[in-house]
Amino acid sequence: MFDELEKAPLDKIFKLLAQFRADEREDKIDLGIGVYKDENGNTPIMRAVKKAERQILDNETTKSYVGVAGNREFCDLIADLVFANIIDKSRIASVQAPGGTGSIWVLLQVIKRARKKGKIWISDPSWPNHYPMCELAGLEPNYYPYFDKDSGKVKFAEMMKVLDRLGPKDTVLLHGCCHNPTGANLTNEQWDIVADSLKKTGAFPFIDLAYLGFGDGIEQDAYGLRKLASTLDEMMLAFSASKNFGLYRERAGVAFAIGKDKNGAEIAFSQMGNIVRASYSQPPDHGAEIVRIILQDEKLRNEWQNELDEMSARIKNLRQKLVNAIKERSNLEDFNFLTEHSGMFSLLGISKEQVDKLKKDHAIYMLDDSRISIAGINENKIDKLAKAIIEVTQ
Ligand SMILES: Cc1ncc(COP(=O)(O)O)c(C=O)c1O
Repeated sequence: MFDELEKAPLDKIFKLLAQFRADEREDKIDLGIGVYKDENGNTPIMRAVKKAERQILDNETTKSYVGVAGNREFCDLIADLVFANIIDKSRIASVQAPGGTGSIWVLLQVIKRARKKGKIWISDPSWPNHYPMCELAGLEPNYYPYFDKDSGKVKFAEMMKVLDRLGPKDTVLLHGCCHNPTGANLTNEQWDIVADSLKKTGAFPFIDLAYLGFGDGIEQDAYGLRKLASTLDEMMLAFSASKNFGLYRERAGVAFAIGKDKNGAEIAFSQMGNIVRASYSQPPDHGAEIVRIILQDEKLRNEWQNELDEMSARIKNLRQKLVNAIKERSNLEDFNFLTEHSGMFSLLGISKEQVDKLKKDHAIYMLDDSRISIAGINENKIDKLAKAIIEVTQ
C-alpha cells in the first residue's frame, strides 16, 4: 500500500532545525523554533508548573479516565481567564483538547458539519498549520490580506475590504493576539471595526488564542476576543496553554464554542464531544491538571503570572535592543516596526535570498518567509545579528 503514496513534505520548521543542528559554527543563532527561550537558550519549566507537578505526584490516586470533555475545572478556569465574566456562562461550551492544535481540530470539524459549502478565511500569512488543517478538515481555506511587508504593519483597509464582503456561510479565523508569524496585531479600534463588520455580514468568527499574556498582558491581549464575544451572537475560540504555561509537550488546550444562548451552547458541546470521542476519545490530563492547580492556588497563580510577565518583558527588551543596535550602526529606520510588534515572533519582511545569505554567511537561521523568534535572540548576540541584518539588506 505505501508505495502507492509519495513521501509527504517535511514541516519547514523541523527541516530548519535539522540544518541548524548540523551547522558546526560556534556562534550560530537559531531564530526558527517557536518556543520561548531564556538568556541561556533553554526552554525552562516554569516554577509554578514544577510545584504543581509535585502536588500531582503526591496526591494523585488514580489514572482512571477523566472523560470525553476532559478536566472540567481546568476548562472553567480557562473560560474565566479568557472571557472574564463578560458573557453569561450558560453560553460557553468547552472541551479540553490536546493543545491549541487539538482544539483547532475539534472546532474545524464542528464547522465542517455546520457549513458544508462554506469557506474559511485565514490571514495572509498565517500560522503555517492553519491552511493544511483546514484542508484536511474538508474546508476550503482562502486568504484575506493582512501583513504589509514594506511597513511591517497590518494592511487593515485591504483586510476590511475582504471581510466586509463576506456572508453568513463564511468563517473568519483571527489570531487573538501576538500574531504568528508576523507579530503585527490589530489595535483596539481595529478590533472594534472587525466586530462591527462581523455583526453586519454574519460571518462566523473563530479565534486562535495561542499566546494569551505573551504580548501586552492578559487584559490587553484579550481585548479583541472579548470585544467579539460581547458583540456577536456566536463564536469559537481555541486556547493553548503551551506557551503561556510552558507546557508544550503536555498538550493542554481548550476548544470553546460560544452559543447565542444555553441551547446553542448545549448543541455545540454535544457536537464537540461526539467529534472528540470518534477522534481520540479523551484528552491527556497531566498538563490540564497542572494548570488547574496553579490557577486555583493564589500563591502559585501569582508566581505563574510573574514569570509570564518576566518572559514577555524579556521579549520586549530584546526587540528594543535589536532595533537600537541596527539604528546605531546604520541609521536604518526600516526595522523600527519590530518594537511595535508583540509576542514571540516578527516577520522581518526580507527576501528569501537575504534569508539564505544570513544562513550561509552568518549562521543565522530563520524561516524562509523571514519570521524570527525573538526569544531565540541572546543579548550577547544582538550585535552580530544587527550587523548581519544590515549587511544583507544594504
Ligand atoms: C497561532 C498558533 N496557533 C496554534 C498553535 C498550536 O499550539 P499547540 O502547541 O498548543 O498545539 C501555535 C503554536 O505554535 C500557534 O502559533
